Amino acid sequence: MTERAEFEALERDAVYRAIATRRDVRRGFIDEPLPQDLIHRLLSAAHCAPSVGLMQPSRFVLVRDRGIREAVHAAFLQANEQATATYTGGRREQYTSLKLEGILEAPQNLCILSDPQSERGHQLGRHTMPETAIYSTVCAIQNLWLAARAEGVGVGWVSILDPARLREILQVPANIVPVAYLCIGYVDRFATEPELERSGWETRIPIEDVVSYDRFSAGEKVANP
Ligand SMILES: Cc1cc2nc3c(=O)[nH]c(=O)nc-3n(C[C@H](O)[C@H](O)[C@H](O)COP(=O)(O)O)c2cc1C
Repeated sequence: MTERAEFEALERDAVYRAIATRRDVRRGFIDEPLPQDLIHRLLSAAHCAPSVGLMQPSRFVLVRDRGIREAVHAAFLQANEQATATYTGGRREQYTSLKLEGILEAPQNLCILSDPQSERGHQLGRHTMPETAIYSTVCAIQNLWLAARAEGVGVGWVSILDPARLREILQVPANIVPVAYLCIGYVDRFATEPELERSGWETRIPIEDVVSYDRFSAGEKVANP
């Protein structure tokens, strides 16, 4: 029989378990800073993500300082007020009841940025799709998110922030793009369903609705999912 490169069954199950049980976490952070070796493992998981041309454009700013987190939290409140104003009626009421960040509750935050103009990788893959530099950073974020789940660490992504304000607060140079602002910390449980589903904001769609074969087709059914 041909040798194959797959994992042992238990290891494979663990990978799928991390994927299936990962959640966006905004509450329930334990007030205990993550140890440095754990932070190093999470950052290393992010750093070994795929990247276009092997350019490795991702940069990481770990934010532990309370004053800086307070400034980011104030930026969130301002952006969230503007977001709230875009909704009316029941949707607005529902929006205002959502918990959409854990900037101050999490003992540390992590800003993940990208250097999309870096010469590293010699433009391979970016002549046609320059946006793949940012996509590479999103791959790094997901690696970290999954590794964190396996470590019992909650991660919550906050995009309700004016990037220009975030740049000012974290002193980000013009050529570097803030991609994600994450709240991270130990939690003692992970919800079994997305918080936005539990609150009735949105539902998850079945895989059959998003997969088609050979040609794009909205809503084609999968024969063998
Ligand atoms: C790019 C991106 C930005 C997000 N921004 C926010 C945010 O600002 N606030 C928030 O509460 N959740 C945010 N989320 C989390 C999503 O709401 C969450 O992933 C989705 O509802 C599914 O839930 P789950 O991650 O627990 O499976 C963001 C997720 C992504 C991928």
